[in-house]
Amino acid sequence: MTKAIIIDLPKIEDPRGNLSIIEEEINIPFKIERTYWIYDVPGGQVRGGHAFKAQQELIVALSGSFDVVVDDGKEKQTFSLNRSYYGLYIPPGFWRQMQNFSTNSLALVLSSTPFSEADYIRDYQDFLKAGRS
Ligand code: TYD
Repeated sequence: MTKAIIIDLPKIEDPRGNLSIIEEEINIPFKIERTYWIYDVPGGQVRGGHAFKAQQELIVALSGSFDVVVDDGKEKQTFSLNRSYYGLYIPPGFWRQMQNFSTNSLALVLSSTPFSEADYIRDYQDFLKAGRS
């Protein structure tokens, strides 16, 4: 996949409570090397604000809501995540920023790579220079 998309994760509805599932290479297009989560975000704070050279990721609002702005250097697209059965898939090479976190929101991030600072592009001008096309 070459663009950011919302993946509708399976949802097993049950009067006892709902259940959703992520299986690597089945409902997301990569193998999961790393999982991290972002929580206790003070009101008004912004996370992200960088691109990855190789990392693919899936972002899920497990609780609460937040927006992810995905930028290919030409256009910005804002995805509002507010359901725990929506996964935002972001391929490598997109600038992305997370903002508008609601109180007690919990952002789960599944990553296709181990952590590597060398995979980050943290300077927006460098990102534009690297260019996607
Ligand atoms: P960073 O990815 O810059 O956070 P965000 O994009 O959400 O604002 O990571 C913040 C710090 O945490 C940075 O010093 C790198 C470190 N970090 C790790 O050590 N391992 C990881 O898997 C991640 C995601 C971050």
